[in-house]
Amino acid sequence: MSSKRELIISKIRDGVVIDHIPTGRALLVLRLLGISGREGFRVALVMNVESRKLGTKDIVKIEGRELTKDELNLVALVAPTATVNIIRDYEVVSKFKVAIPDVIEGLLKCKNPRCITNQQREPVRSRFRVLSREPLKLVCDYCGTIHELNDIERYFGLT
Ligand code: CTP
Ligand code: ZN
Repeated sequence: MSSKRELIISKIRDGVVIDHIPTGRALLVLRLLGISGREGFRVALVMNVESRKLGTKDIVKIEGRELTKDELNLVALVAPTATVNIIRDYEVVSKFKVAIPDVIEGLLKCKNPRCITNQQREPVRSRFRVLSREPLKLVCDYCGTIHELNDIERYFGLT
């Protein structure tokens, strides 16, 4: 439990707190959740705060929204240390760590323009296998192209 001294932004009433995000990844997390700030719900972003486990960390708080399984998988890829806290009426009602699945389907685009998953006709759903979690390495199941964290950042328009 954080003491008053440590609390940077207020607690939220209902929603989700993604805590223990590696420093510098909070914007990427917002991007991959498709949050621009124009949706109308309150969002708080905390960057570079002290963490006992990580040294420093980022936090994302989203009021009035929960996360789908696909969204949790995307968060896990870029923030494997993240803890997700579901908040109802100011209380943490559920807390769990994200986990990178073995297969990522239909969530990312292969960067190889000639890949079958990028063809206009008869498009095939993308599918990547996780070769390594740290550092992140995904391999396209169709063409074998390796994707790393910076490819995901580029995909979400951050580099
Ligand atoms: N939180 C919040 N609004 C609430 C309740 C909690 O924004 N109504 C945030 C806290 O600020 C913290 C996270 O959700 O960033 C987890 O809350 P809690 O479990 O109370 O904190 P800790 O015990 O410090 O969490 P952990 O053990 O996961 O580090
Ligand atoms: Zn491919």
